[in-house]
Amino acid sequence: MQQSSADRDFSGYNAAQANRPERPLARAALAAMPGTVTSPRTAIELGCGRGIESRFLAENGYTVHAYDVDQSVAPTLRELAADLPVHPEIVDLAEISVLPGADLVLSCASLPFLPRDSFDGLWNILVTALRPQGILAVDLFGVHDDWAVTDGTYLSRDEVEELLEGFEVLELAEEERGGRSFSGPKHWHTFRVLARRR
Ligand SMILES: C[S@@+](CC[C@H](N)C(=O)[O-])C[C@H]1O[C@@H](n2cnc3c(N)ncnc32)[C@H](O)[C@@H]1O
Repeated sequence: MQQSSADRDFSGYNAAQANRPERPLARAALAAMPGTVTSPRTAIELGCGRGIESRFLAENGYTVHAYDVDQSVAPTLRELAADLPVHPEIVDLAEISVLPGADLVLSCASLPFLPRDSFDGLWNILVTALRPQGILAVDLFGVHDDWAVTDGTYLSRDEVEELLEGFEVLELAEEERGGRSFSGPKHWHTFRVLARRR
């Protein structure tokens, strides 16, 4: 098992995503957006990988600020930015000190790879960036996840609920299941979060 996020093959993972459709969490985020949030709408995607969800948001009328540390996705993100209002940045999320104001913050299976103090810092920054009525759509990992023994942020349900103070929770789906990850068999403990900033 990988002992740290530095050991994870994110480039291989992202390359393998090339032909998949956008994730249901991205679709749910758009469906949850209140009609009162007027255009132009802005979205942030944290851990965007090769930009499949960023493309989907941009094709649905959002200007997207997309962040990922994986250098290998830079050419794909540059191509995306040439076609659509997507602004990619190759950066370690732990190094971000400010994010642009946004109506939507999306992060699919990425925030848990940050160590807890970086995670907490970024969480405060993203909450500040999210406008009132804005939608938060993120995957978080739980304490029973196989990877909870590695570095990263693995949360109890109480901790997840604490993070969501100040939000109207639209969905908090906790799941434990056996399955596979890109690197092999794995027990998953996940939270799918959909919430609206008050
Ligand atoms: C499991 S992948 C998910 C990618 C994409 N969101 C998806 O759903 O396919 C995790 C992503 O987080 C990125 N990532 C991991 N740690 C990061 C960090 N510290 N800063 C920025 N990106 C990071 C990886 O490069 C990778 O693209």
